[in-house]
Amino acid sequence: MKHTKVKDLLNGTKTLQEVNAKGWVRTFRNNQFIALNDGSTINNIQCVVDFENTPDETLRRITTGAAVSVTGTLIESKGAGQNVEIQVLKLEILGDSDAEKFPIQPKNKPSLDFLRENAHLRVRTNMFGAIMRVRSVLSYAVHSYFQEKGFVYVNTPIITGSDAEGAGEMFKVTALSFDNPPRTEDGKINYKEDFFEKETNLTVSGQLEGETYAMALGQIYTFGPTFRAENSNTSRHLAEFWMIEPEVAFNDLDDNMDLAEDFIQYVIKYALDKCQDDLKFLETRLLDEEKSKPQAERSEMPLLEKLNFVLENNFKRVSYTEAIDILRDSTPNKKKKFNYIINEWGADLQSEHERYLVEKHFKCPVILFDYPANIKAFYMRLNDNTEPGRETVRAMDILFPGIGEIVGGSEREERYDVLIEKMKALEIDEEELSWYLDTRRFGSATHSGFGLGFERLVLFVTGMTNIRDVIPFPRTPGNAEF
Ligand code: 4AD
Ligand code: MG
Repeated sequence: MKHTKVKDLLNGTKTLQEVNAKGWVRTFRNNQFIALNDGSTINNIQCVVDFENTPDETLRRITTGAAVSVTGTLIESKGAGQNVEIQVLKLEILGDSDAEKFPIQPKNKPSLDFLRENAHLRVRTNMFGAIMRVRSVLSYAVHSYFQEKGFVYVNTPIITGSDAEGAGEMFKVTALSFDNPPRTEDGKINYKEDFFEKETNLTVSGQLEGETYAMALGQIYTFGPTFRAENSNTSRHLAEFWMIEPEVAFNDLDDNMDLAEDFIQYVIKYALDKCQDDLKFLETRLLDEEKSKPQAERSEMPLLEKLNFVLENNFKRVSYTEAIDILRDSTPNKKKKFNYIINEWGADLQSEHERYLVEKHFKCPVILFDYPANIKAFYMRLNDNTEPGRETVRAMDILFPGIGEIVGGSEREERYDVLIEKMKALEIDEEELSWYLDTRRFGSATHSGFGLGFERLVLFVTGMTNIRDVIPFPRTPGNAEF
């Protein structure tokens, strides 16, 4: 008999039929009740074992973590907590799990740190099962949103010769030997003899390549892994993360903000519709976790209310200049509570400032726009009519409560001359980016795009607090296990 998913058994349409379920034992109570989970849902199916007619040898092997196959009749349950249960007729142990050795014992309430070290097994807990199902649904929602709107999904290269963000935080890709690399006459490493005959890196962003496609296909998006060798050991940074980067020809910055807001609301709504059980579980988990925190550090709203709030309220759009005024006059700034005191226009915003704006001042998602030119990337469009010394670019960052920056984007500098001048000032090699400049040489036009850090979105939707807990196998400084 083919086995039925637990999720389908629990919806009750197979009552009174003989069914087969396969999964992993979560708990085994009173030598009689197996809580069986197969990953299809957060909910377990209760399997009632006829222990009087089951050999002791078999009963002893029903341990947490063991894989079992259960055949029996699906009946309405008399016990509280479930509608249906399986009256077991036949039980087969598929794979034993030594109770002394299996590290994930629900009774011990393993810590998140311990679970991170056991990332290959943590997905067997309710918490990580829920997170990873929500992550999967969110990534489907991303595709669904853009495909419905006629965007073309573009796969930009993972190995690249360019540094899109100009931040220089890249992992090198090479096939040269480290012990004795070929050298040029002046002693530098000779990349001409490397695999690609040039220096290459793992991509930090697919934007530049994405722009070339937007300038032909109109609306495109990427969704793929990106890599940053920044040594930020925070709960918001990964060295390998997934980014979604839409790019749209003829969109200006306002269109770009509209798109980002609509997109984020769509994917959150999608998760709310499809992941009710998982999100309810995660809401309870968060409430539990926060019980041990001081009142001031607790979330203002339970998870589901917070998600609905984001759907029902427009994001507040605020210029960088307005934000600086707010921050300068803020209590933590005056009382020198910020690590970085905001004194003047031009300061780069730290996450403490972003979070103050979102969590304390506006109390809703915020889109900051028109940043000082010299704290943003070279490709952002210079605003017309900016004061000399106070040049701004058409950049936007979306800031979320509890997360800080979730989106970074801009209208792109479409004017060839202005772009070249900017690149010269920043000493960006024109030769290297000649292909990129072709978009401005041939049929240039206004266009805009943004990047959304997928894990930051998953953090927000699941109410988790550490980015290491929303990607299966996190890569962070000092950690590339698995
Ligand atoms: O702001 P960033 O650096 O922007 C870009 O890369 C642009 N090329 C995007 C574009 O316009 N097409 O990164 C975009 C987003 C951030 O807002 C953040 O959500 C996420 O990517 N991000 C990270 N997420 C996890 N770990 C890191 N180290 C991240 N760095 C950026
Ligand atoms: Mg950014």
